[in-house]
Amino acid sequence: MNSASPQGRLDTLEHQSMQAFGETFIQALPKHIRNLKIPGRAIEENQRRQPVLAYIGNITELQDAMLEVLHHPITQEAQLSTESTFMAFLKKKSIDSSVLSFFNGWNETHKTTSLVSAKIIMRLSADAISVPAEKREGYHNVMAHMHEVAKDDFGLGHQGHDGMYNYMTAAFGATAWVEDQYKIAQCNEFSDFLYNTGIAKHKTALNSLEHKSSIMDAMMVSIASELWNGREYNFVAQYIEAKLLATNPFLRTNTQNMRNAKGYVMGHSGEVENKHGLHAVAAAQAYGQTVAIEFKPARLKGIMLNYNERVGNAFSAMHRALTA
Ligand SMILES: [Fe+2]
Ligand SMILES: [Fe+2]
Repeated sequence: MNSASPQGRLDTLEHQSMQAFGETFIQALPKHIRNLKIPGRAIEENQRRQPVLAYIGNITELQDAMLEVLHHPITQEAQLSTESTFMAFLKKKSIDSSVLSFFNGWNETHKTTSLVSAKIIMRLSADAISVPAEKREGYHNVMAHMHEVAKDDFGLGHQGHDGMYNYMTAAFGATAWVEDQYKIAQCNEFSDFLYNTGIAKHKTALNSLEHKSSIMDAMMVSIASELWNGREYNFVAQYIEAKLLATNPFLRTNTQNMRNAKGYVMGHSGEVENKHGLHAVAAAQAYGQTVAIEFKPARLKGIMLNYNERVGNAFSAMHRALTA
């Protein structure tokens, strides 16, 4: 199609950059925080615990830090690599070995929930028995927020999360991506970094500074990752249905298969990931107050930039694979 045609112009108008998604989110940060809560829970058949509003402090400082990270050259470069990678994938006419490598590498970049957040939840659970009575309320709050960060990825938020990536790759006829030959070293280095973050210092004394810092840092990596995902999935969500249809026209007439095929991307789009990120902020701040370690926005900034740089490197390796 001629790019100057009305349809072509419409396409460019409708599609938003990762940057635009990030700006929209950060601008509305105070509103998102006001609405953030731990959901209510049925206690008895006729009795419910009401939702618990999240408490997040220093909102202006947090907003400034996030904006600074978003506009930083490191983030700009990482987003460029990521958008170029998706564009290179969209341009592929067939599922060749480079696309299989892309799917393998892309999967590696989405392991924060299992390798960082869930490991922190495990560590907090193990340590719960050692927490003194006066700290338990705060500690429970940390755990409840961390559950909100990870629940969707574990199929506890909505059903059927498990296997979604495979539904998508199957619809593309790309199930072979799991084979070792399609690994991209930089993407595996990235997931190694996540793993090391999740288990760092886990045997150190509970009240030692290195232990508390390792938990705080890991929660900040969760924040970085969820907010990055908020932009990444919303970006790719704009294209996924058309790409699936172009590769697999059969999906046009099979709505259930189409829903499954695009479920992985759509299920992570909208406000889903940003909300996970804000629960991680609430968890990190509550943790800081409970165990007396300061939540430092400057530290968060550094960790977010470090995360963005690493994920950007993984995406530029995927881009090289797709365009080699
Ligand atoms: Fe997920
Ligand atoms: Fe998430």
